[in-house]
Amino acid sequence: MGSLTKAEEVVTEGEWSTEAIVYVNGVRRVLPDGLAHLTLLQYLRDIGLTGTKLGCGEGGCGACTVMISCFDEWSRKSKHYAINACLAPLYSVEGMHVITVEGIADSRRSLHPIQESLSQAHGSQCGFCTPGFVMSMYALLRSCNEPPSEEKIEECLAGNLCRCTGYRPILDAFRVFAKTDDLLYTKTMSENNLSGDFVCPSTGKPCDCGKGTTNRSETSTCGKQYSPFLYNRIDGSLYSEKELIFPPELLLRKIMPLSLHGCEGVKWYRPLRLQQVLDLKSLYRDAKLVIGNTEVGIETKFKNLQYQVLISVTHVSELNILSMNEEGLEIGASVRLTELQKFLRKVITEHTDDKTSSCKAILEQLKWFAGNQIKNVASVGGNICTASPISDLNPLWMAAGAIFQVISCKGNVRTIPAKDFFLSYRKVNLTYDEILLSIFLPWTRHLEFVKEFKQAHRREDDIALVNAGMRVFLKHDHGTLKVSDASIVYGGVAPVSLIATKTENYLIGKKWDDNLLQAALKILQEDIVLTENAPGGMVEFRKSLTSSFFFKFFSFVTNEMNHKGFLIKGLNATDMSAIQPNYRPLTRGIQCYELTRHGTAVGLPAMHLSSKLQVTGEAEYADDVPTPPNTLHAALVLSRKPHARILSIDDSLAKSSPGFMGLFLHRDVPGSNKIGPVIRDEELFASETVTCVGQVIGIVVADTHDNAKIASNKIVVEYEELPAILSIREAVKSCNFFPNTGRCLTKGDVELCFKSGACDKVIDGEVQVGGQEHFYLEPNSSLVWTVDGGNEVHIVSSTQAPQMTQEYVAWVLGLPLSKVVCKTKRLGGGFGGKESRSSFIAAAASVPSYVLRRPVKITLDRDVDMMITGQRHSFLGKYKVGFTNSGEVLAVDLQLYNNAGNSLDSSFAVLERAMFHSDNVYNIPNMRIIGDVCYTNFPSNTAFRGFGGPQGMLIAENWIQRIAMELRKSPEEIRELNFQNEGCMLHYGQVLQSCTVSQLWDQLKQSCSFVRARENVNMFNLHNRWRKRGVAMVPTKFGIAFTIKFMNQAGALVQVYTDGTVLVTHGGVEMGQGLHTKVAQIAASSFNIPLSSVFISETSTDKVPNASPTSASASSDMYGAAVFDACDQIKARMQHIAARNPHSSFAELAKACLLERIDLSAHGFYITPDIGFDWKDGKGSPFSYFTFGAAFAEVEIDTLTGDFYTREADIIMDLGHSLNPAIDVGQIEGAFVQGLGWIALEELKWGDSDHKWIRPGHLYTSGPGTYKIPTANDIPLKLKVSLLKGVQNPKAIHSSKAVGEPPFFLASAVLFAIKDAIIAARAEEGYHDWFPLDNPATPERIRMACMDNFTKQFATPEFHPKLSV
Ligand SMILES: Cc1cc2nc3c(=O)[nH]c(=O)nc-3n(C[C@H](O)[C@H](O)[C@H](O)COP(=O)(O)OP(=O)(O)OC[C@H]3O[C@@H](n4cnc5c(N)ncnc54)[C@H](O)[C@@H]3O)c2cc1C
Ligand code: FES
Ligand code: FES
Repeated sequence: MGSLTKAEEVVTEGEWSTEAIVYVNGVRRVLPDGLAHLTLLQYLRDIGLTGTKLGCGEGGCGACTVMISCFDEWSRKSKHYAINACLAPLYSVEGMHVITVEGIADSRRSLHPIQESLSQAHGSQCGFCTPGFVMSMYALLRSCNEPPSEEKIEECLAGNLCRCTGYRPILDAFRVFAKTDDLLYTKTMSENNLSGDFVCPSTGKPCDCGKGTTNRSETSTCGKQYSPFLYNRIDGSLYSEKELIFPPELLLRKIMPLSLHGCEGVKWYRPLRLQQVLDLKSLYRDAKLVIGNTEVGIETKFKNLQYQVLISVTHVSELNILSMNEEGLEIGASVRLTELQKFLRKVITEHTDDKTSSCKAILEQLKWFAGNQIKNVASVGGNICTASPISDLNPLWMAAGAIFQVISCKGNVRTIPAKDFFLSYRKVNLTYDEILLSIFLPWTRHLEFVKEFKQAHRREDDIALVNAGMRVFLKHDHGTLKVSDASIVYGGVAPVSLIATKTENYLIGKKWDDNLLQAALKILQEDIVLTENAPGGMVEFRKSLTSSFFFKFFSFVTNEMNHKGFLIKGLNATDMSAIQPNYRPLTRGIQCYELTRHGTAVGLPAMHLSSKLQVTGEAEYADDVPTPPNTLHAALVLSRKPHARILSIDDSLAKSSPGFMGLFLHRDVPGSNKIGPVIRDEELFASETVTCVGQVIGIVVADTHDNAKIASNKIVVEYEELPAILSIREAVKSCNFFPNTGRCLTKGDVELCFKSGACDKVIDGEVQVGGQEHFYLEPNSSLVWTVDGGNEVHIVSSTQAPQMTQEYVAWVLGLPLSKVVCKTKRLGGGFGGKESRSSFIAAAASVPSYVLRRPVKITLDRDVDMMITGQRHSFLGKYKVGFTNSGEVLAVDLQLYNNAGNSLDSSFAVLERAMFHSDNVYNIPNMRIIGDVCYTNFPSNTAFRGFGGPQGMLIAENWIQRIAMELRKSPEEIRELNFQNEGCMLHYGQVLQSCTVSQLWDQLKQSCSFVRARENVNMFNLHNRWRKRGVAMVPTKFGIAFTIKFMNQAGALVQVYTDGTVLVTHGGVEMGQGLHTKVAQIAASSFNIPLSSVFISETSTDKVPNASPTSASASSDMYGAAVFDACDQIKARMQHIAARNPHSSFAELAKACLLERIDLSAHGFYITPDIGFDWKDGKGSPFSYFTFGAAFAEVEIDTLTGDFYTREADIIMDLGHSLNPAIDVGQIEGAFVQGLGWIALEELKWGDSDHKWIRPGHLYTSGPGTYKIPTANDIPLKLKVSLLKGVQNPKAIHSSKAVGEPPFFLASAVLFAIKDAIIAARAEEGYHDWFPLDNPATPERIRMACMDNFTKQFATPEFHPKLSV
C-alpha cells in the first residue's frame, strides 16, 4: 500500500482536475470540492429543487428519479436516461446535464405534455410519487427516436412505486405517447366526440362505458367540458422549443480525470484510462471501485461501511468494451446493464438461434432485474464482484461457461472461469491489487441450450428468492441424444451461487428422457443443503423451487429438441404449461359511471386541485418546507431489544461526533413524558425499560440530518434483557391482554343452536391474518420551532391528526393548547399510518426545539419509519360454524385476537370494528364474537385503511369458503344464499337500511359473465397441468362513522373575499384522497361559483380547533357538511343584500355585502346524527350508513413456482351520487391494488419463534428491497370499475357515500380466486379437502399449497408456511 503522500503526488502529477461542473435544468453549476459524501438527491434538495423526492434512499421507489444527459463520444450523440438520484454520488454526474421535474415546466407556464396528460387522467393523488413517474416517462421519450411501444412505457415504470392510484390512470396517461391508435387521437375523431359521442370523463378518451347511461344529457355535457385529451395536443410538437437542450459547453468540453474529496477525508477519483485505475489501486490497497453505486451506496447507508478512497470507473474506455468475435462476446466490467441489454438484442437479431442461447437467457433474466433507473447505472462488473448469493446474473455466467479476465496493478492479465470465481460469501477470486477487466461469453453450439430462472417475492423489481442458470449440451450417440456437458447453477440456496455438482456429474452421458429427469431430481436434493433456520427462511419453498426449475429446464429442452425434430416424443400438451414464458399482456382499464350534478361543481369528475402542482413538483410536503435559519436536525435513539431494562446510556462517543448539539432523554422533557392517543400508556422517551425494538429512548440533534444520524448511532445503551412476547399465540398462551379490553357481541344463542341439532354440520378452525405496512411514499416529517422565546410553539407536520400532534406537543412541553399550532398542507399518503403514530415523532422533536429555542426538523429514514410507526394489525381468528346441508349458516362462534404491540394506541377500536364486520354481508341468526387485544413486544400497531374491518371480513370469507368446500358447492352459492336483506337486524342491534348487496351482486355477475368465466377457467385447467386459473366473487359492506361517538363531529371556516373567491379551511387533512377537491366542489356549488374560485390552503389547528383525525372514510361527509353549513350561513346573510342590489357576479355581491357590513366569514359545524353504541349491552347503531360493493377476480398461477397474475378484476360499488366520480374511481382502484398487496404480496417478517434467522423483535422487511408493495406490473390486466347507478344516500351530503376504506376488502376476491386455482392444482394430485391459505398469498404459499411430487420431497401435505402474526 502506498503512502498517502506518495498517492497525492501521483495524482497531481497527471492531469487530474478538481473542477467539477454540472448543468442542472440548463443552469451551469460548479460543484465545490469536498462533497464526495453527498448523493445527487441531497445536493438537488439542498439547492432548493425539492420536486425530486426522497422516498426510500435505496433505489426501491423511484420518487427520486431524474434524467441525466451525457455526450457519447462514440455515437457523437447525447444520451438520456433515468436514474435514482438517491443512489447517485454527486460527482458521478460531473460533466452531465441533470434534468429534474422543475426543469420540464412549472404550473405558471404551460405544462409539459407528460404532466398535462398525467394530471388530466387523474394520475396523481397524494402526488409524492408523481415527479418520479413524470421523469421516468420523460427520460423514455427523450431517449426514443420514435414513439415508444406501450410495452416499453409499462416497462419504463418498473422502478416507480405508487401507493395511492393503483397505477391504472398513470398507465392510461402515458399510453397516449405510444401513438398506437392514431385514429383515437386525431382531430377528426375529437370533433366527432365533441359533437355527441361518449367520452370517458375519467380518462378523457373515447369509450363506450357511458353508452346507455341513464343520465345521457349530463354525460354529453361532461363530454364537452372534459374533452378528450388529444394526442395532437400532447405530442410535444408545440412544446419542443422549450425542451432543455444539451448544454453546448458540455459538448465541447474535454472530459478530465477528477480528483475530489468528501467529508472526513474521503477521496473521490474519476480516472479515464485503465492505467490510471491501476496506479490508484496500487497506491490505495483498500480503494473501492464504484460504477453505479447501487451496491456500494447500500453498503455505506445501511450497513455502515465506510470507504476512504472511491475510484469511479464509469469513464474508463477499456472497461466499457462491447464486442464480438468468432468465439463469443467480450463485455467490459463497467458496461451498464441497459447497454448490455441493447447489445444482446442486437447480437440475437444478427446471429442464429444456435449461437445465442446464452445471450437470450441473459437478456430474459435482465428483464426482471431491478427497475430501469438501476439498470441504467448498475454495471456487469459491479454485479459480479458483489458476489451476492442471489445475483441474477452470476448463475448464468457460470452455467454459460463465461470466462472472466482480471488485471493486476502491474498489468498482468489472468483468466478465471466464472464457475471458479466465487469463493465464499461475497468473496471473489481477486487479489487486493486486481480488478475485473471483462467477461468473455462463448457462443452456444448446435444442441446446446441455456436457460434462466428466477422466482422472487414480486415479479418486477425484486431480488430473487431462488434463481438459476442451466445449460446442457447434447450429442447424438448411436441414434439417441445423450448429455455431453451440463451446468446446473443455483442462486439463493447457499452463501454463494451454487453448482449442483452431483447432478451435473450424473447427467453426463445420460440419455435425455424421463428416467434422467426422475434420477436427476433425486440427486439434486443431495446438492441443495438448506438447514431449518437458514437465512432467508422459506426452506421448503426454496428447495421445491430448485426441483421445479430443473423440471422446467428439462421440459424446455425437450420441447426445443422436439421442435427441431431431434426428439420424436415431445411434451404432453398439458405439460407445455410448465414452460409458458412469463408473458403479461398490456393492462386495460374501464370505468363506468353516470354523472349526477348538483350546482356548478358537485358531481363533476374534476381533477385533484393540487394535480398541476404535483406533476410539476411544486406541491410542497413537510420535508420541502424551507427551514428557518439556525435549524437543527434530529435523529432518534432507538431500542435494539424487544424487552429490556435500560442499564445505562452513554453519549460520550456522540459528543465528539461532527455537528452534535445534544442528546435529550426522558429527564429533559419539560412537561409529561406519558403519551398516547386515547390512554396515555406510552412514554415519549423510555425511562427504565424498553418494550419493543424501535422504541424511542432519546433524540439527538446536530447541524445536519446525516450528522444527527451518525451521532445517534454512537449513543451506547446497555440493557438487561427480559423475556419478550413475540406473537399473538404467545400472548394468548400467557393471557397477555390489555386490561379491560375484552369485548363480546352476541345475537341469538350460539350454544343452543349448536346443541339443537338444527345444524347439519359444525366445523371449527383458525384463520391467521397477516399485517401490512402502510408504505406511504412520504416518510414522517416534522418541523418544530418556538416563537417569543418559547411562549408559542409552531409545528409543520406530515400528520393525519394535526390536533393530536398539537395535543402531544403541548402535553410534553407543559404548554396550554392555545399556544401550540400545528399545520399540515398535504401528506404524501397516510392510509391511517399517520393518524396516531406521527404525533410522537413531532413531540420528540419539540423537546430539543423548546429547550434550545431553535427550530428542529426530523424526517425519518424509510427503514426507521417502517420499524417504529406500527402497521396494520395481524389477527388470529378461531371459529366454530354451524350450517345446513344447503349451505345456510345458522350459528357462528368467533374468538378474535389482534396484535396490538406494546401500547394500546387504537387497537381497541380496531378490534371493535373487526367484530362489527365479522358478518361481512351475511345474515347469521346466532352469533357470538369475543375479542381480546393482545400485548406483544412489537411497536404499537395502528390504524390502516379499513381499521380492522377487512380483517373481520377476511375471517368471515374464510369460513364461508370452507363451508363451500365441505359441501362441495361454490363459495359464490354459499355467499348468495346467506346475503343480508333490507331491514335485517345485525349482530350489534343496528337495522340494515338501503342495502344494495343483492343488486350489486347481480349486476356484477352479469358484468363479469361469471358462469362463462367459470366454464372457461375449468376448460383451461383441464388442458394445463402446471398453470391453473381460478375465479371468485366477493361482496362487502363497510360501516361509515367513527365507532367512538364524540369523534363524529367536524368544523370548517369559510371566508368569502370581495373578488368573489372563497377560502375554505376545515379540520380534515388532504393526503391524496381528494378531500379538499370534494369539499371545494361543495363550496363552489353552494355559492354557485366556479370551482376555480374556491381555495383550500392547509389544515391548521388555529383555524379549526379540536378536529378528529382524518380517517374512517367519513371526512368528505363530515367536512363537506360543515362547509355546506358555513356556506349556508353566509348565503343567508347575503340574501337580503342580493335581493336589494342587482349584481352580475358573485364578486359584485360580495363587494356589496362588504359595503353593507355583512360578515362574510362563517364557522360551520356538523355532527353525524343517529349514531351511538353501548358496549354494556352490546347494542346500538355504531354506523350512520353502509357502503356496499362486490368484486370479481380471475387469476392464473404457475403451480411450479407460485407466481401469479390477476387476469381480470371487475368491481362495482354503491357510492350513491358521487361527489366526484373520477376521485371515487381513483379511490376504488387505489384501495383495490393496496388490498391486493395485503392479500397477495406484502409480507411482514419479524424476528419471532418462526423466524429465528431474524434477530428477536426486529423487522426484517423494513424497506422496498424486502417489503414488496404492488408495482404497475401487478395490477389486473383488465380492471373494470363501475358505480351503481340510480341510488341515493339520504344520510350524507348531496346523497353521496364514503369511499376511502370500503373498496379495500374487495381485493380479497383475488385471494379467493388464487385459492380456487390452487384447488384445481391439488385436485390433479387427488387432494379435495379444505386447506388453509393465509394472506398474503405469496409465491411461497401458493407453491406449497399446490402439493405435487416436487413439494412432497420437502414437505408433508399438512405443511403450513410460517407467518408473523
Ligand atoms: C433497487 C435495487 C435493485 C436491485 N435488483 C437486483 C436484481 O434484480 N438482481 C441482482 O442481481 N442485483 C440487483 N441489485 C444489486 C445491484 O444493483 C447489482 O449487483 C449491480 O449490478 C451492481 O452494480 P453497480 O455498478 O451499481 O455496483 P457498485 O455498487 O458500483 O459496485 C459493486 C461492487 O463491485 C465492485 N466492482 C465494480 N467493478 C469492479 C471491477 N471492475 N473490479 C473489481 N471490483 C469491481 C465494487 O468495488 C463494489 O464492491 C439491485 C440493487 C438495488 C439497489
Ligand atoms: S428515494 Fe430513491 S428510489 Fe426511493
Ligand atoms: S399518488 Fe402515487 S404515492 Fe400517492
